[in-house]
Formats: sequence, C-alpha cells, structure tokens
Amino acid sequence: MLKQLFKTKSLDELVHEGEEPEHQLKRVLGSFDVVMLGIGAIIGAGIFATIGTAAAGDAARPGAGPALMLSFVLTGVACGFAALCYAEFASMVPISGSAYTYSYGTLGELVAWIIGWDLIIEYAVGNVAVAISWANYFKTLVSGFGIIIPDWMSIDYRTAAKIPGLLENAPHIWGIPIVFNLPAFSIVALITVVLVIGIKESSRTTTVMVIIKLLVLGLFVVVGFYHVNPANWTPFAPNGWKGIQAGAAVVFFAYIGFDAVSTVAEEVRNPKRDMPIGIIGSLIICTIIYILVAAVFTGIIPYNDLIHTLATSQSEPLTLAMQYAKIGKHADLIIGIIAFGSVIAHTAVLLVFQLGQPRIFFSMARDGLLPQKFAKVHPRFKTPAVTTIVTGLVVGVTAMFTTIDEMVDLTNIGTLFAFILVCAGIIILRKKEPDKPRPFKTPFVPLIPVLGIIACLYLILGLPWITYIRFAGWLIIGLVVYFMYGYRHSRVRKQLEAS
Ligand code: ALA
Repeated sequence: MLKQLFKTKSLDELVHEGEEPEHQLKRVLGSFDVVMLGIGAIIGAGIFATIGTAAAGDAARPGAGPALMLSFVLTGVACGFAALCYAEFASMVPISGSAYTYSYGTLGELVAWIIGWDLIIEYAVGNVAVAISWANYFKTLVSGFGIIIPDWMSIDYRTAAKIPGLLENAPHIWGIPIVFNLPAFSIVALITVVLVIGIKESSRTTTVMVIIKLLVLGLFVVVGFYHVNPANWTPFAPNGWKGIQAGAAVVFFAYIGFDAVSTVAEEVRNPKRDMPIGIIGSLIICTIIYILVAAVFTGIIPYNDLIHTLATSQSEPLTLAMQYAKIGKHADLIIGIIAFGSVIAHTAVLLVFQLGQPRIFFSMARDGLLPQKFAKVHPRFKTPAVTTIVTGLVVGVTAMFTTIDEMVDLTNIGTLFAFILVCAGIIILRKKEPDKPRPFKTPFVPLIPVLGIIACLYLILGLPWITYIRFAGWLIIGLVVYFMYGYRHSRVRKQLEAS
C-alpha cells in the first residue's frame, strides 16, 4: 500500500496525458497574455485592502509603520524563491494543475492529493476573501451614484452581529434575521459565466482590467507623491522587526497569484519560454509597484494618525490616503477613480483564480482522484465547464456567509504550504531526474529552494494559531475524501495493479 501511496507519475506520462484529445485544452495564450494573467491574479484585495492594517497593526499584531516597504521586500523575496521553483516546474511540466501536478511527478500520489486539496484553499478560499472585499468596494462605489445596497444583503452574519442595530433592522423569517452577501455571490456568478464561455475571451477581459488597475495605481503614486512628507517616514519601524514580520505575513496575500499562472500552462502556445516569463515577470512588476504604493501611502499619513483611524477606513487605505492628502477640487473624482480601479482589480483577481481552480480539479479528475465528470471538456467551448460551475457555486455561496479576515489567514497558510512543497519538489526532482531537459533552471539549487522553504515557514509563524487548527482540520477532511474515493479510483493505482 505504501508503494501505491507514494507512486509517482513520470514527467513524460504527465505531459502525454495533457495531449490526449478528449482531455485537451486549446493552446491560445502568448507570453503577453501570461504576464497579464499573472498581474491580473496578483494585484487585488492585498494592495487595495490590507496595507492599512499591515501598517497600523491591530489588537492581534504590531503594525509595520513606514517599514511596510520592507515587509513588501521581505515577502517579495520569499515569493521570488518560490517563483523560481515554480518556473522550473512549469517549463518542464507545461500542463494544467500547478503544484498538484508537480508533486505527482516528484513526491507521489498521496502528497499530490494533499497539495491538490490544499490548493482549494489558495484558489477557492482566496477568492472567497477577494469576493467579500470586492463587495465592500462595489458598495462604496455605487453609493457615489446614489445607489444604496442595504447592509443586510451585503454582509455576513458574524460581521453584522458586531454592528449595533444591524441584525435588528434586517428582515426576519420565523424570527431569524436574514443576512447575506449578495454582491459577493453575484460577481462570482458573473465571472463563472465568462469562464465557461472561453479562456481567450476571459484573457482579453483580464488584459483590459490589468491595464486599468495599473493606471489607477499609477495615478495614486503620481498624485500622492506630491503630498508625501518625508518626515512621516520617521520613525521608520515603530514596532521594530516584529512589526515588519507581522506586516509581511498580512501582505503576503497581495502576492498570491503569480503561481496561478502555472495552471494555464496547457493553454499556452510556447510554455517553455512563456511560463518563466509570465511567472517571474509578473512578480517583479508587482513588487516594484507595491513598494512604491507603500512608500507613498506611509509618506502621506503619519503613523500616529493612521493607528487612530477606524478599521473600516484602514480597509480602504488608498482612498483614505487621498482623503488625508486634501488634494483639492478634484479630490472626489480621484477618489472615485481609485474606488473604480479597486473594483476592477478585484474582478481581475477573481477571474484568474476562478480560472485556476477548475483546472486543478480537472487535473485531479483526469488522474482518477475526483469523479470523471470533472475531467470533461465542454464540446463547444473547450473549457472545463463542469468544474468551473462547481467552483463558482462553492465560492459564491461561501462568500455570502463568511468573514474576510479568516478567509485571508486561511488562504495565506494554504498557499505558503503549497510553496514549501513546490520548493522541496525541485530539490527531489534534481536528484531523481538530473538529466531531464529543463528549459528554465532554478539557479543555485538546493540553496534557493531551501531559502524558499525557510522564508515560507517564517511567514507561517506570523499567522494566528487558530489558522493552524483550521488548516489541519481541512487536511484531515481531505485525507478522508482521498481514502474513500481517490485511492480507489486512482488511474496510477489501477495501472500498478494491472502490471
Ligand atoms: N493577490 C491577490 C489579491 O491581492 C489574491 O487580491
């Protein structure tokens, strides 16, 4: 049994399966599309919603202050190590499934399953958080046009319970207050429809959205630059290294997504060249943008003023900074544009993650670990329609009822865990298949993957303990599902038994 659990697939087998006609996806994306998908996945709720809390801190953690810039560098470097490992894998095994597929080729079926299950946290739970944040910004944006979405239909129950009077004023059925997040569900539903229709269409949509969000962040940096007071950068790290570490653990969310690019490897025309360009290129571009935004943000608002602003204002940090800067007669217009850009940025992230999750399910089903229905490609649209719709329903419904903070923490731990296994996988594969052609090679192996593992563990240590418990619970459920279904239906296991 142990042999079966740790049976790996050969890389040739993995690549070959991606070429079976009934399971084939259309190869339509170029390197520009891939970089755009990367930026589309990366810049979203992280930069638009978490930097206020990361700089100011809260009851549970110290704030980074102006050293938020360093937090971004720290997390960027950690992600950089992991990105180099992802790029090697994605160029060698250019088929959909990301870390799941790579670990099947290196660490065996059981670990692959654990990773696949874990990636649900990164993609689906991550998108739950982004959908909730999207709903907040959307509500603010439309209120500028006089459209007021009632609180009871744009919030989850537990957050509502903390706001005086909200539950009392909600409609009741049999005495139970009705509270749910309708905008969060609606955006996920809309995106699901776009994705079922086709990836080329959705990648074009992503490109437009990426350009908009880059312009909006550029606007923030340029306008804000004139209102920066360098004196606000002192003291640079009011809570020392602890604040920087805690800030890094929060803003890690802002980086998640460069790895999502690897899930479209099967739909890329020249994956050997385009995958590394897409993954590393998008990460570098976003790191530079984040450091600039953090510098301007902390240069506008003095740390002592920031810690005294409301948590709800901190969760819209860029508009908060613009209000603080008193930019004059165009203030409302600029704030409106930033709110609009934020909604667009969130939408782009949702799109890429909703695109990635079904492709992981698709790969798992192709291996027999999930029901075969999940491995079907739509006859007309050539997309994994069943998994796309299942993902949309699960994410949309969960987003109606959960709180964003918990979802962000869970996403971060799940993603860091996946990064660790990918880094470990690179070391193992170099030993197992040293001669295999590597169109992109991670430099300084094993140093870079080892540094990646250490950096990710360090960030995990910055997360609250309750997250560890939730994460462990999720993995245990995953193991139960594996032994009840995947283990019995595994294609690899059936081949082993037949031979
Ligand atoms: N990096 C993505 C975001 O910040 C998940 O929204």
